[in-house]
Amino acid sequence: MEDIWDEVSVRYEDWYETPLGRAVDEAERRAFLRLLEPRVGERILEVGCGTGHWTKWFREGLGMRVVGLDFSEGMLAVARGRLPDVPLVRGDATFLPFKDRNFDVVAAVTVLEFVQEPKKVLDEMWRCVRPGGRMVVGALHDRSPLARRRRASDVRTVLSHARFFGYDELKELLRHYGPVRMGECVRFPSTGWGVRTSWMFEIFGRLIGSRSGAFLIGVVPKSPTTLQKRD
Ligand SMILES: C[S@@+](CC[C@H](N)C(=O)[O-])C[C@H]1O[C@@H](n2cnc3c(N)ncnc32)[C@H](O)[C@@H]1O
Repeated sequence: MEDIWDEVSVRYEDWYETPLGRAVDEAERRAFLRLLEPRVGERILEVGCGTGHWTKWFREGLGMRVVGLDFSEGMLAVARGRLPDVPLVRGDATFLPFKDRNFDVVAAVTVLEFVQEPKKVLDEMWRCVRPGGRMVVGALHDRSPLARRRRASDVRTVLSHARFFGYDELKELLRHYGPVRMGECVRFPSTGWGVRTSWMFEIFGRLIGSRSGAFLIGVVPKSPTTLQKRD
């Protein structure tokens, strides 16, 4: 699986430069801010940081102190090129090479879809969250139009290897660690139609409680005082 990421690494960022990619990025970041409430100076570990797309935003956009980890040397090489001052570690998400309770926030964005044992990754992420910190997961939604198009298509991309998540499924997976704040976004068509007015789709979708967003976000705060299941 590492090979696939090495192969796509050089062109991975191209999609974010398209109008659709920019609209998706903006919707996802807004949802992240709303649910995570990040603070300047917080220490964040990004598991499966890839080419550093989110890593860069965590650092330069939000002023967080970020460490990235990924198992693909190709993805990390791109990330290192754009973020020479950020610690970027090669490693496996199922055995994180960090001490317990080391980070204010531990994040994984579109990573669980590609691992055999998501629970093992979450256990490791949770172990690294300090009491009072948060674990945050972004994942692709199986009921979205994007997921439906992927299933219907014969064209093979990295998403062909992804296992999309149900809203309740992700919530249930995260509930094991504590109370979950769930959200979703990217409710506009993944064909690119309506991209200019994507913000209207987002607002309207939230108002009517639509469950068709392509991107799910779950945040689990770790209690500052109580010892939690994994501790
Ligand atoms: C879809 S990309 C997401 C990259 C980045 N989080 C983003 O949203 O732009 C998935 C990333 O997870 C990494 N990955 C998958 N399984 C992993 C594992 N077991 N350990 C470390 N990284 C992993 C891949 O190398 C790839 O860079």
